[in-house]
Amino acid sequence: MRILVTGAAGSIGRVVTLGLCDRGHEVVGLDLVPEPDGFTGAWHTIDCADADAVDEVFGEERLDAVVHLAGHPDEADLPASLTSHVITTAALLDACVAHRVGRFVYASSNHAVGRTPRASLTDGVVPGLLTDQALPRPDTFYGVGKVAAEALMRLYVDRHSIDAIACRIGSFLDEPGTTRALSTWLSPDDCVRMVDAALTAPSPGFAVLYGISDNTRAWWDLEPGRRLGYEPQDDAEAYADRVAVRDVDDAEAAHVGGPFAGAEFYRPALDLRR
Ligand SMILES: NC(=O)c1ccc[n+]([C@@H]2O[C@H](COP(=O)([O-])OP(=O)(O)OC[C@H]3O[C@@H](n4cnc5c(N)ncnc54)[C@H](O)[C@@H]3O)[C@@H](O)[C@H]2O)c1
Repeated sequence: MRILVTGAAGSIGRVVTLGLCDRGHEVVGLDLVPEPDGFTGAWHTIDCADADAVDEVFGEERLDAVVHLAGHPDEADLPASLTSHVITTAALLDACVAHRVGRFVYASSNHAVGRTPRASLTDGVVPGLLTDQALPRPDTFYGVGKVAAEALMRLYVDRHSIDAIACRIGSFLDEPGTTRALSTWLSPDDCVRMVDAALTAPSPGFAVLYGISDNTRAWWDLEPGRRLGYEPQDDAEAYADRVAVRDVDDAEAAHVGGPFAGAEFYRPALDLRR
């Protein structure tokens, strides 16, 4: 497949770009910044919130799919979050429709459901695990942006019959460094497996999966991903004896979004001074 990877210069983007190329895909990179050393494919240094610039890229490249990773991976005020996550997604989805690109894979986040109390996860297929049926429950304006981007994807799937998969990524890290990350870790290799599965699953329509490794202490259900062919191979437990116990561990385990659900993130939506 010839795949546009947005945010291709970022931490996930660099790993996904290399991994997809290793799996025989052709990657077209897009980012606000120029290509990293060693990237040899086509590259577009643009802002993917700029619909005209995005449309021009789609006009130049014959694409089969988009992996949308561009975005600010942290809390921001509401306008910035909406621009970074919703406007960019809208520009790319409009271009998908206009240029008949039928597969859209999105780096959503666990923070779309991050305010879900873990103590509430007592029923469901596997008690203690959050499923893909969980209602949106963002923990931050960042999470609101991810919820809204997922809603936009759902709308475009219903209107235009494209396939769109929201990968609610946990903690993408070389290795887990906190107790929470023993539950939320997504290893680099599993991240590539996840994106490849989301790109190649037959006719998923709109789907949500949880982007974590096969962690012994997982808080999220891996079945939605497995239904799409995502078979994670790594387990954070292999690193457990290197992870120091901290005073904040219990507080971070109260909600699935961890620290983002805490009071330090309470702030006005339109406080642009922060
Ligand atoms: N890292 C994680 O654990 C994690 C967890 C959940 C979700 N995510 C999501 O995954 C995506 C990638 O995260 P990351 O950790 O690689 O972040 P990152 O900051 O390392 O990379 C993001 C890249 O996107 C680019 N970018 C940002 N806005 C852009 C725009 N408007 N147009 C073009 N390029 C733009 C940046 O220049 C950067 O290279 C983000 O959407 C983030 O919200 C990450």
